[in-house]
Formats: sequence, C-alpha cells, structure tokens
Amino acid sequence: AGRKTVEQILSEFRLKEEDLRKVMHRMQKEMDRGLKLETHEEASVKMLPTYVRSTPEGSEVGDFLSLDLGGTNFRVMLVKVGEGEEGQWKVKTKHQMYSIPEDAMTGTAEMLFDYISECISDFLDKHQMKHKKLPLGFTFSFPVRHEDIDKASGAEGNNVVGLLRDAIKRRGDFEMDVVAMVNDTVATMISCYYEDHRCEVGMIVGTGCNACYMEEMHNVELVEGDEGRMCVNTEWGAFGASGELDEFLLEYDRVVDETSLNPGQQLYEKIIGGKYMGEIVRLVLLRLVDENLLFSGQACEKLKTRGAFETRFVSQVESDSGDGKQIYNILTAFGLLPSGSDCNIVRMVCESVSTRAAQMCSAGLAGVINRMRESRSQETLKITVGVDGSVYKLHPSFKDRFHATVRQLTPGCDITFIQSEEGSGRGAALISAVACKMACMMG
Ligand code: BG6
Repeated sequence: AGRKTVEQILSEFRLKEEDLRKVMHRMQKEMDRGLKLETHEEASVKMLPTYVRSTPEGSEVGDFLSLDLGGTNFRVMLVKVGEGEEGQWKVKTKHQMYSIPEDAMTGTAEMLFDYISECISDFLDKHQMKHKKLPLGFTFSFPVRHEDIDKASGAEGNNVVGLLRDAIKRRGDFEMDVVAMVNDTVATMISCYYEDHRCEVGMIVGTGCNACYMEEMHNVELVEGDEGRMCVNTEWGAFGASGELDEFLLEYDRVVDETSLNPGQQLYEKIIGGKYMGEIVRLVLLRLVDENLLFSGQACEKLKTRGAFETRFVSQVESDSGDGKQIYNILTAFGLLPSGSDCNIVRMVCESVSTRAAQMCSAGLAGVINRMRESRSQETLKITVGVDGSVYKLHPSFKDRFHATVRQLTPGCDITFIQSEEGSGRGAALISAVACKMACMMG
C-alpha cells in the first residue's frame, strides 16, 4: 500500500454525478415517506406541514413585532406592513440583535423564554412602545410540529407559543398577541415571495441546513383537504438517520457526529452546515499532519482543539487571491508556521470540504425541485428559490458551485436564486399580517 498522498486523501471527498443522483433519489423517497400518513413516523425526513397556504387571504396593515431565534443570535424587529400598489409592502422600522447566553440556550425551556421576553421588554422600552399590544410573529430554526399557524410544539413536545405567552405573563410588564410561528426557511420563502411570486422554495445554508417548498395539498396527508398547496418544512437536515448516507460518510464525518450533541442525528446537515464545516477541515488537517504531509508533521495545540478551526476560516482561506498571503496570515495567527506548500494544501482541504457540502446540498434541492416539476406535470418548471444563511452568503464560491450542480441535476427546470435580506423578520411579520386578517375574517 505505502503512504498516501494529499491527493489520495482528498479524493475521498469527490462525488460523481451518479453519487449525487443516488442521494437525490433517496432524499425523494424519504420525502415521500414523510408526507404519507402510513410512513410518516419512521421517515427520516419529517416533512412538517406549516399551515402556510397558497391561497392569498390578503393581509392586515399595521405594526408587527417579529422575533427571530436562529443560528446564534436572537433578533427583535418592528415591521410595518402596508398596502402598496402590488399588494403588500413592508418596511423594517427598528431592529435589535441580542446574543443568547450559554445558560439560557442549554438550560430549561422556561429559562430560554424568560430571556427572550426580557429582550422584548428591553426592545419595547428603547422604542417607548410598552403600552401597545402588538401582534407578534416568531421565527424558529428548529423543528416545530404545527397544529395550526399559532399552535405548535417544539422538539421536546413543549407548546412553544404557550411557553412564550407564559414567560410574557410572568414578567407582566407588557402584552403581546402571538399570532404566528414559522420556521426560518418558511420566513425566507415568504419574504422573497413578495419580490418574486415564483418563489415557492425557501432554503437555509447557515449554521444548519434546511429547506421548505410548496407541496400539493393532496400529497400532504397529515392535513385534511386537497385544494391548493401548503408549505412543507422538509427538515431535511435529518436525512441519513436511517443509513441513507452511510456509504458517503468519511472517518471525519463519523468523528464530528460522535463528538456532537446529537450523535446519529442530522447527518446530512453535518456534511453541509457551518456548524461543522470548519471542524471537518480541522480533522482532515490533523490527518495530513499525522501522515507527515503537512506542517512538517507538527500540529500546534490550537489545531488539536475541537472546534478551534471555525467555518469562517474556510471562507477566508478560499477567498485568498492566489498569492497565499491571506492563508499564511490565518495560519500564523492560528499558531502554525506554514510553508508555501502548506498554504496550498490547506486551501485544497478547504475546497474539498466546501465543494462536497455544496454538492450534497444540491442533491437535496434538486430532489425537491424535480419532485415539484413532476407533481405539476409541467414540461418546464420556472421556479425561484429564496436563500439565507452564512455559508451561502459569505463563502466565496459555495453558491456558484451549488447553483451549477443544482442546474445540472434538474433538466427541464429554469431556476432563479434570490438571497433573502432580513428574511426571517420580514417573513414572520408578513405571515402574522395574513394570520391577523384570517382571524378577523373568522370573527
Ligand atoms: C438569518 C435569518 O438571516 O439567517 C435566521 O434571519 C436564520 O432566521 C439565519 O436562522 C441562518 O443563518 P446562520 O448563518 O445565522 O445560521
């Protein structure tokens, strides 16, 4: 056998088109199982109905408060929704970001919601709005099972809206009317829909990875009725839990999974999401050091530390203009002494890991879009995808590789990608506006 070369080690990350088609077909199969009553429970992709429907109900106008709990930050936003010439228009008026302290994040649900209502209280104080009882929309990035637009339970079966209402009541210094809850992919889709009515898919490639899309109601077996479409939150990050990705998982993926908070779960997300990308790169670098192919066989303490190589470094390494200066600076700041060839190798490692992520993600989206084209029996499907998330937005070449691979896998589809700005906050406000209108109509 002899010693491996850098190329050999990195070649494991390469995926052929037939591999991607395999992933795509398996994803489609799980999506189908997730939608069906009979197989929903055992499907790895949960396909959660969101109760966001295609039929436009029109919307209320006025001020709405949006909460956005996703990634690492928590945002409070005041959004004005008004009537414009082409339907709704919306203006973000005020906005504040709060970071979530570790203990609130890992503690009980009550602790988290107490912190959240403390932030709302602070926001209302700052803008002298404590006296108003505003309608509130809440965006989540984690899986929430809906019974309706404002009735939902979290991963642990907690009634999420109830938790928020209780926390607000415990404080007792302001009132809120919680009218809608949406997943961040859904909020992203809705916010882009107002720019482009062909936007029927929402996707996040950030800390985590997930997507939603408009499914034909007659396929959504968990909800009664056959008319029109409903947005389905795929929760595709969970794909792989039944072994669907086993043949593609590398030793690094297994280490990332085993040392994670949720071993055996979210395997697809762990290949793609920004929470893990830097860590996969770090593990490959250590392997190369081990094989004496990098840094003269010497790793510094920091490189041996779990989580120390952040995903933003991957973006920065790949943004190097080609002279290696930026890579050199990143690595020396990291405590390493890289040669010119070390810098090249580190770049190759980052490219291998981020390209695989982009391709794996493409297989999922192509699965969704091909499914939509088939169920609509259209010769060509013209569709827009709204996207958000730090990996998609900040990595220098993720999106180009991603777009190219999605297009390669979706013949007969004409796809436009749009980047959502402040998508979650705006999307939640817009959905709240629609929910208020519906509540009024129903008396
Ligand atoms: C933000 C959205 O722009 O992107 C959030 O407002 C979403 O709702 C987030 O969760 C995802 O990106 P990241 O990179 O912060 O995980």
